[in-house]
Amino acid sequence: MEREAPNKPTEEDKKIQDELRASGDIPAHIAVIMDGNGRWAKKRALPRVAGHREGVGSVRDIVEACGQVGVEYLTLYAFSTENWNRPQDEVSTLMRLLLSSLRDEADRLHKNNVRLTAVGDIAKLPIEVQEKLAETMSLTKVNNGLTLNLALSYSGRWEILQAVKAIAEKVKHGEIKIDEINESLLANNLTTAGMPEPDLLIRTGGEYRISNFMLWQLAYSELYISEKYWPEFRRSHLYEAIRDYQSRERRFGLVSEQVRRRSNGGEKSLAAKIYETITGT
Ligand code: FPP
Repeated sequence: MEREAPNKPTEEDKKIQDELRASGDIPAHIAVIMDGNGRWAKKRALPRVAGHREGVGSVRDIVEACGQVGVEYLTLYAFSTENWNRPQDEVSTLMRLLLSSLRDEADRLHKNNVRLTAVGDIAKLPIEVQEKLAETMSLTKVNNGLTLNLALSYSGRWEILQAVKAIAEKVKHGEIKIDEINESLLANNLTTAGMPEPDLLIRTGGEYRISNFMLWQLAYSELYISEKYWPEFRRSHLYEAIRDYQSRERRFGLVSEQVRRRSNGGEKSLAAKIYETITGT
């Protein structure tokens, strides 16, 4: 498919993005718990679904800004395993919204060089959603800009359990020995295999919880809680979160002095270098 020119940032936006790149590391992977859609709607005496609809606008803006500023991976917690237990009409509306968003946004994602991936128990989603997801992932698989990773019918505990089962099967069939089970083997059996762990977790809606999201991968992520409800969270708030991230000292269980020594020189991110030190890889 022919691709149109990508959406360009405004001059003012470009200036902020340049400043962010100049002032420190841009997180390679940002994970987001998009919370507060229901409360946003309630505050305006609207049905909850109006909040979800408005939230799609935030998804669009954040995806575009992440791509422009140089974030490599953006994982959005769009539907959790637990969300299946919401009232049936809200679940159906969310699924319809996901389908219409994929239909509306597929070309824009492609145009902006975004690669779409998904993690979670995808087989549980309605078949039309599964098909549209597969089609969009296939359309965008050659793109080398931002990877937009949707967590759908996903939970951290579900993911760890399925990894443990996959490893147990391999042990049972004599493909690996118990002694060979280590952190890297477990990580390679998660649905996020091959992606860097999130450097930054953003949660909107002002609550201080992880809510069963990326339980393994968030071990050393910096947490940023925004009081904004997801439908209000736009690129200016993302830039604020990145600025805050840049002011943190990530120590990965070490002391400052060790971190400073390892941060000198080299192509690899500090996170990668320190992780190698800790795990001996
Ligand atoms: C949490 O808010 C949000 C969700 C469960 C769904 C998020 C979905 C979208 C933003 C729309 C579709 C997504 C994509 C990727 C196109 P909540 O309902 O729990 O809010 P509350 O805590 O205020 O009740």
